[in-house]
Amino acid sequence: MTGPGKRACIIGWPVAHSRSPLIHGHWLEKYGIDGSYVKRPVQPEDAVAFLRGMRAEGLAGCNVTIPHKETAFAVADEKKPAARAMGAANTLWYEGDRLVAENTDGIGFMNDLVANYPRFNAKGSAVALLGAGGAARAIIHAFLEAGAQEIRVFNRTRARADAVAGHFGARVKPYDWSDRMDRSCDASILVNATSLGMKGGAALDMPLEQLDRACIVADLVYVPLVTPLVAAARERGLSAMDGLGMLLHQAVPGFAKWFGVTPEVTPELRALIVADIEGR
Ligand code: ATR
Repeated sequence: MTGPGKRACIIGWPVAHSRSPLIHGHWLEKYGIDGSYVKRPVQPEDAVAFLRGMRAEGLAGCNVTIPHKETAFAVADEKKPAARAMGAANTLWYEGDRLVAENTDGIGFMNDLVANYPRFNAKGSAVALLGAGGAARAIIHAFLEAGAQEIRVFNRTRARADAVAGHFGARVKPYDWSDRMDRSCDASILVNATSLGMKGGAALDMPLEQLDRACIVADLVYVPLVTPLVAAARERGLSAMDGLGMLLHQAVPGFAKWFGVTPEVTPELRALIVADIEGR
């Protein structure tokens, strides 16, 4: 390819912590693509102007992180179903002159789940979900799409659990935080979509002895990689999945749109990000 190559970026405020440039940089090199992917700090008051001017700047699109996900969704000309379900976008690209918004967190989680546990059947499953924020919405949408029978949402602030249930419909059942043990006995999968368990933050209090032996435990937190929840699940002999796979898989659709190659999530890529998380 001649010329300056294709360019994409991640916008956020702050954005310095983002590992997306490492992921996309790895793929650009691996596939020999003449392109670039950088961090772009964009202040909240500048987000709309940035997004409207992206094409003129020569960008193929971008990833979007906090606090711009809702703005990105609002500004887009076309909104894909997952983005619409969440009212927020994390991936933007152009189709012709139209700016398209998608949210790839949910599908990223599902693809990681399938990669780790190919025999897990989401269809007809009962999901126990901790949290009712943006990350929880992505998980709810993905499981509804995959045909889950029931998604039980446990949240500290009950009103937020009620709000997501109202938004997503009858298969989503809101509960008090204190119901999380009694109501997770027959769950096929338990997902932590709260921020609890993050390095330097508050601990997650989630007993696991009531869970079915076949229940998969998934944590969306990936710093640390092995959270106390993941460690406790493995100690009990349960299958457990960390949050890094979701981060890697959510990046795939954007790369494919901007650079024209569907990239693979490999052990090498995972090792690169693990080394960064662990400060090696
Ligand atoms: P995200 O977009 O990453 O999901 P968020 O919208 O701030 O972030 O949601 C964070 C989630 O973690 C919420 O479900 C929050 O519960 P509340 O809705 O009650 O705030 C949950 N959370 C954070 N700190 C918590 C704590 N100390 N105990 C229980 N839940 C907590």
